[in-house]
Amino acid sequence: MLRHASALLALLLGCPLLLLGCPGPSPSGDAGPPIVPSDYPSWTEVRDCRRSPDHDLAYIRVFADPSAEPVYLARDGAFPERATLLKLEYADPDCTDLDGMTAMVWRSGDWQWQELDADRVPFAESTGPCVACHADCGEPPDGYLGTCTAP
Ligand code: HEC
Repeated sequence: MLRHASALLALLLGCPLLLLGCPGPSPSGDAGPPIVPSDYPSWTEVRDCRRSPDHDLAYIRVFADPSAEPVYLARDGAFPERATLLKLEYADPDCTDLDGMTAMVWRSGDWQWQELDADRVPFAESTGPCVACHADCGEPPDGYLGTCTAP
């Protein structure tokens, strides 16, 4: 009992007191498992390194899995079930210093959203803003079926 109480106190006072490391996000946290598979670096880069107008000081590249790639590039047709798009965000203009990533996967006629850190660990954050913003990306030249990055 006393041990539990002091551990709780240590947490309340700041986890560095535990000296064992702070509890960090786990891959199976509230955000669920990553929707991006570990082999994403083998996907096609469908939008090259550029500055993102929507995220302060971030530079981005967009990757598509093999099923999303033809539809995304042609901006024509329907995305198949489980088509996945991934935006990598970098701190530097050459896109070498990876900061984090966002991803969207097409499931049952709608996009499912996720925000992940540079190690592909999902965050448990609201995805409402993703939907609101991407809703403006319906048809060229503004976007295509909820995807926003200009060719
Ligand atoms: C403020 C508006 C806004 C919000 C909020 C937003 N996005 Fe985006 N997103 C964009 C724009 C604009 C692009 C085009 C690339 C760029 O400029 O960064 C984009 C691009 C993307 C892409 C690359 C595929 C494409 O072309 O659309 C993914 C994946 C993505 N966003 C996922 C997300 C996720 C997941 C969230 C929520 C965690 C989110 N976005 C929130 C505006 C937004």
